[in-house]
Amino acid sequence: MKIGIIGGTGFYEMEGEEIEVETKYGNVNATHFKRGKRDVFFIARHGKAHAKPAHAVNYHANIMAMKNIGAKVIIGISTVGSMKKSIKPGSIFIPNDFIDFTKRHTTFFDNEAIHIDLSEPFCPVVRKILVNATKNAKEGVYVATEGPRLETKAEIAMFKKFGDVVGMTLVPEAILAREAGICYASICLVSNYAAGLQERLSIEEIKEMYRKRKVAIEKIVNKAIEKIPARRNCRCRYAAIEGKL
Ligand code: HPA
Repeated sequence: MKIGIIGGTGFYEMEGEEIEVETKYGNVNATHFKRGKRDVFFIARHGKAHAKPAHAVNYHANIMAMKNIGAKVIIGISTVGSMKKSIKPGSIFIPNDFIDFTKRHTTFFDNEAIHIDLSEPFCPVVRKILVNATKNAKEGVYVATEGPRLETKAEIAMFKKFGDVVGMTLVPEAILAREAGICYASICLVSNYAAGLQERLSIEEIKEMYRKRKVAIEKIVNKAIEKIPARRNCRCRYAAIEGKL
């Protein structure tokens, strides 16, 4: 069982063999290492040195690279802003659903009528493993925004009626993984309260939070990797076949 990790800069960067994976969407750099008996492949979501901001990430290439490597499971790691006072900065949030406010291209299937079911947008097995691996995990709805700017207070006042946290990278990553038949679940570090819930937002504060919580996230991900079953018995891998018109 090969496991993929897609992380923001600074998350889960491990020593290992550097490889380059070809895809029809572009080449992707990955790091391969062993975690127990598992083969793990890490892709830095934004490319080397955080070159690409969230709206310009090559999500299609990243997911296709995981597919070409043979990864059956992906854990996505990212930071989010909290829209709820009860979800404090420093918390770990495991989304159970999302709302897409991006303007992105969210499919691999441009020439075929395939409508994947997203009633349960994350792999139920991997998601549960992440929740169980996390002490005091917060769960709820992730509102995906286009970025790269942060949100206005009015936007957050609206978004918080729909969801719990706000972030820029879950979409289309989770959707493309499902289209590719890869089990996907997400673990988010809450780095700040969203606009209007705190005085002002500073990028330094967001960076500081992930410096502080990086090791905790790595521990959770390592624990989760051990628990992922060798054989999949969820329906994620059939999504495209079942969605074909
Ligand atoms: N908004 C959007 N994305 C984010 C935030 C935020 O407040 N914090 C970290 N990622």
